[in-house]
Amino acid sequence: MTEKTANLAFGQSLKAFWHALFLIVPVTVRSLWVLIANINKPQVKKSEKIWDMISEHMDTYAENEGIKKTDAKRDEKLKKYLKSNDVVLDYGCGTGTIAIEYAGIVKKIHGIDFSGKMIEIAQIKAAQNNVENVDFTQSIIFDEKLEKESYNVVLAWGILHLVDDRPDVIKRINKLLKPGGLLISATECMAENKSSITSLISFLMKLRIFPIMLKFFKVSELEESITSADFEILETEILTDNPVDCFIAAKKPLGK
Ligand SMILES: C[S@@+](CC[C@H](N)C(=O)[O-])C[C@H]1O[C@@H](n2cnc3c(N)ncnc32)[C@H](O)[C@@H]1O
Repeated sequence: MTEKTANLAFGQSLKAFWHALFLIVPVTVRSLWVLIANINKPQVKKSEKIWDMISEHMDTYAENEGIKKTDAKRDEKLKKYLKSNDVVLDYGCGTGTIAIEYAGIVKKIHGIDFSGKMIEIAQIKAAQNNVENVDFTQSIIFDEKLEKESYNVVLAWGILHLVDDRPDVIKRINKLLKPGGLLISATECMAENKSSITSLISFLMKLRIFPIMLKFFKVSELEESITSADFEILETEILTDNPVDCFIAAKKPLGK
């Protein structure tokens, strides 16, 4: 590596660290009172409350440079895999940004999220944008109202690193897909590259003051949980490297 490329790499990781701080610090500070107010609640309830709190700022956080740099890649991947006849489940849909943006290129999108406040915002945004082929429900992936083999695509964008039971969640996604259906995902693999950002998050999590319980795993472990759930991986691509955000498209084989 030349001195110039080393300086460039250092500059880029400093920039990434700076962008991450702009997300990590306000989320952590705002979340402290939510954690204190819900100290006796089970972890899953605390997580819901934290995401309810984040919902108000979600669309502002999405403007963060560190997050925006994956937007072009997301656009490329979703346009590559989504088809006009697809019925899509958007798992962990947040404020519905992706569902609303891509509703025009598919038949229907059903967004689910365990945060009621995220769902409220998503419903308001869909109405404001006159998007009629989307609906949003406060729900979890194991909700029995979700019908088996009813989706062509399950979108899991920014969610698989947040769930406690990743292998079971991915098996459930497989069951919800029609044979030949696709899992389209982007997942932070925090154990892939140790960096200042991942170390800071891990430190704050150990102190129990980082509000979001991220799961630390490598790309290979994510791939393993996908193939073990009877999927065939079609594509893996690293979208960002600090922390590693990994895109995976996987297919449920026909006849399964
Ligand atoms: C990082 S955000 C991603 C939002 C959206 N997919 C996007 O990319 O803009 C993660 C979302 O997953 C939701 N979430 C986290 N854990 C969940 C769970 N176990 N079940 C359902 N939703 C969950 C949060 O409420 C939040 O809206």
